[in-house]
Amino acid sequence: MAATNDGNKDRHQQWYDPDLEEVNPEIRSLLENYSKVPPADVVKHVNKINPYPCIGHYRFLNLTLLTHPLYQEIIRRLKSNPSSVYLDLGCCFGQDLRQLVQDGVPSSQLIGLDIEGPLMDLGYELFLDQKTMESKFLVADIFKGESQGEPWTSLVANGADVIHCSAFFHLFPLNEQIEAAKNIAQLVKKGGIIVGRQSGSVKPGEVPAIKPGSTSFRHDVETLTKMWDQVGSETGTKWKVEGSLDEVGMKGKKNPVEDENSRRLLFTITRLE
Ligand SMILES: C[S@@+](CC[C@H](N)C(=O)[O-])C[C@H]1O[C@@H](n2cnc3c(N)ncnc32)[C@H](O)[C@@H]1O
Repeated sequence: MAATNDGNKDRHQQWYDPDLEEVNPEIRSLLENYSKVPPADVVKHVNKINPYPCIGHYRFLNLTLLTHPLYQEIIRRLKSNPSSVYLDLGCCFGQDLRQLVQDGVPSSQLIGLDIEGPLMDLGYELFLDQKTMESKFLVADIFKGESQGEPWTSLVANGADVIHCSAFFHLFPLNEQIEAAKNIAQLVKKGGIIVGRQSGSVKPGEVPAIKPGSTSFRHDVETLTKMWDQVGSETGTKWKVEGSLDEVGMKGKKNPVEDENSRRLLFTITRLE
């Protein structure tokens, strides 16, 4: 997601929703209880964060990890083992990390990673926690993997128990998803999991992407399993893929990137070997 903010909302109207009149109950609760924003100021506070194009659609207000069926199990795992590590790939503002902290996971166990450093900086502005948040926020490119040296090399050396990777793979065609997945595979400890939510399809395949001439691949559970079988055989690892397709959050014709085959894909990918 290329962020090209020139600070002028008027020039990029198509990328922005109008200022919000209300926010969803989950993010309201997080901003009131975690960030201590007075209830009457929550909407004003969100509207004043100067968003990037794309981010202007306020997608960072959706707490995706919270909707994953393993959410409570992830909290249990992280709390029961203080040396366990949660890594959020493509973390954007780091909104899902803040929800974990609000639910009792020490922020020092959590790492956010994104190619866009300014998004993670804006996260501090939104959640007002620069002084208390101990999580590391790393700027790195998932596609470059170990070739970029630090911080990727340290991530590989330490490994993660839980990786959250939502709304990321679906941005890319299948061949690029496989390259990204091979790099991500290096980061997962044996027995660790990759969880997430992304756009899936009952008719899996490449679909036109937002960038003219490019495509992105939408999976069902079968094609996702096949992809991770390939990743496993090319990296000397082994994975179990579980997932489901449903219609939660589908906007149909109101969303120009959805079609009648679009579904929400929730997945859990466990590293077996
Ligand atoms: C659609 S947003 C999803 C954000 C969040 N995970 C969620 O579920 O709402 C995709 C995120 O991936 C990041 N991203 C895109 N390409 C990346 C790359 N090559 N390496 C690391 N992060 C990347 C973007 O900057 C953006 O924050």
